[in-house]
Amino acid sequence: MTDSTPRTAPHPNPELLAFARDMRREFSRLHMEHEFAVDEVLTKVSILQREFLHLHQYNPIEHVTSRVKSLDSILHKVTKRGIDWTPQAIRTHLTDIAGVRITCSFIADTYRILDTLTSQTDVKVREIKDYIANPKPNGYKSLHAIIDIPVFLSTGPVPVTVEVQIRTIAMDFWASLEHKIYYKYNGAVPDHLIADLCDAADAAEQLDRRMEQLHTEVRGNGDTTPP
Ligand code: GTP
Ligand code: MG
Repeated sequence: MTDSTPRTAPHPNPELLAFARDMRREFSRLHMEHEFAVDEVLTKVSILQREFLHLHQYNPIEHVTSRVKSLDSILHKVTKRGIDWTPQAIRTHLTDIAGVRITCSFIADTYRILDTLTSQTDVKVREIKDYIANPKPNGYKSLHAIIDIPVFLSTGPVPVTVEVQIRTIAMDFWASLEHKIYYKYNGAVPDHLIADLCDAADAAEQLDRRMEQLHTEVRGNGDTTPP
């Protein structure tokens, strides 16, 4: 027998509803500010790329990708790290809501782009990690910069944090495969694959160095890029 008593939804608590509405508005603002910050960084990168091409007839950037973390993924990370569920705490402690990844042709270009971007007067550097000079034990290489960039809203400028990753094509190729393997095994990657990934990271580094040598040799005396 089924219970035929009609079920009614619990009576909504007006205070709770107002709180939920405010939170939704604040989180949607947080997300939007990070989208604007990504746009600002992409514009900066595009200007650097075009000016570099104009000055040196050479494009140091192969491609650029970006993303803003979804609300689900923000809340997942916030819970995992024990950060308060307030937009203020999230702004302070979660530095990778906005991410921009710049893939360069050569190692020298990664440092050149990092230096040029982080020395701009409106960019405040919070942290730089050089995983090219100091690779992770698994072989991961990349330059990471956590920067604050001003986003100009109707109420004035708001600093927004963006994680910028800069790496070569070979490093990017390695990292995307490692990422897939890591997720396939849920972090428990078998030893033989860890060893193979380390070997592959060494091979990627050798390739980077050889390509850079070839590039320098071919450009020869006509090279106008800075040392
Ligand atoms: P997260 O909690 O992942 O943000 O790490 P973290 O706060 O210690 O910062 P870290 O600079 O080490 O890593 C930030 C980001 O770099 C990650 O979210 C990845 O996108 C990338 N990354 C770092 N380590 C690895 C790695 O071993 N493999 C791959 N494929 N990507 C990595
Ligand atoms: Mg991260």
